Amino acid sequence: MEKAKKIVVFYYTQTGQALEILKSMNQPLVEAGHQLVYKEIVPERPFPFLWSKETFYEIFPETRLGIPPYGIKEIDLSDVQDADLVIVGGQSWYLSPSLPLQSFFLSPTIKEYLKGKSIIFVNGCRNMWLKTIRKIRKYVSEAGGNLVGHIVLQDRVANLVSVITVIRWLFYGKKEASSIWPRAGVSEEDIRSASQFGGIIDKALQLGNWSDLQEQLMAAGAIKYKPGVVYIEKIGHRVFGLWAKFIRKKGGYQNPDRAFRIKLFSWYLIFILFAISPIGLLVFYLTYPIRMLFMGRQKREACYTLSWKAGDQV
Ligand SMILES: Cc1cc2nc3c(=O)[nH]c(=O)nc-3n(C[C@H](O)[C@H](O)[C@H](O)COP(=O)(O)O)c2cc1C
Repeated sequence: MEKAKKIVVFYYTQTGQALEILKSMNQPLVEAGHQLVYKEIVPERPFPFLWSKETFYEIFPETRLGIPPYGIKEIDLSDVQDADLVIVGGQSWYLSPSLPLQSFFLSPTIKEYLKGKSIIFVNGCRNMWLKTIRKIRKYVSEAGGNLVGHIVLQDRVANLVSVITVIRWLFYGKKEASSIWPRAGVSEEDIRSASQFGGIIDKALQLGNWSDLQEQLMAAGAIKYKPGVVYIEKIGHRVFGLWAKFIRKKGGYQNPDRAFRIKLFSWYLIFILFAISPIGLLVFYLTYPIRMLFMGRQKREACYTLSWKAGDQV
């Protein structure tokens, strides 16, 4: 007879996608008799959904630089002090954890709470998650927690197609397929099959041994690695950093003095999404045979991020 454990699940989601993924993933844990306690991460001031162009671009510098303009509402932790496992679910914004997730990890109460806890991070995003997990690892490490697992559910469709479907979804609320465009977001099939990860987590939880959890999750397809997308994400992340600092020189969140620079960034973003990224991907794959010669090292570097073990240094 398995011993029931307590699992706390913190989540932030605008459309419900991240929560849907978590519920599906956690189903085997519920069936195994564990007690799951869900706690929503609620920003002090909500980020409106549907997005307007103004808010969408306004949050960019603070998201990329990890300086949330405001925090989250206090979460009652009294019933989860003795949790055996912490699961955090959310999404990437601007190649970083979303602002509410960053506020969560930066909150002194949460930091204190996470000390010594085993944590699994679940990301439901479009397709760029590498820099998000790097930042999450840093946050968890600073809190003295132990990141034992990382799962990513992402859009299956080609990069450029998902740019358009995500815009239809986030700005116009059109998630369903049209005659031209496929349905936005993580596929229903991928959400359903996230339950396999719950089964793997259950076994590790029972054994109290997290050391090879990530390897097992990876073997089950917890992160699908697309080298071309990772390549453009790394470049994009660097350039976003420069833009974010350039905008912040004119003032903090919602300072009207930075409006012009934000506008410039919005043009740049459209340009890279629709022109540079496809060219970047094309170049990546055209030069793939040559790159293969150098791939060994590059891939090893990327794989380090993917196949880390609990307790690894950040
Ligand atoms: C402001 C903003 C920026 C985003 N940036 C990224 C990104 O950099 N990488 C990515 O894979 N998805 C990105 N997305 C998509 C989200 O990760 C996520 O798939 C979508 O917002 C739905 O999440 P939710 O309904 O669970 O909140 C972004 C979404 C928003 C609103």
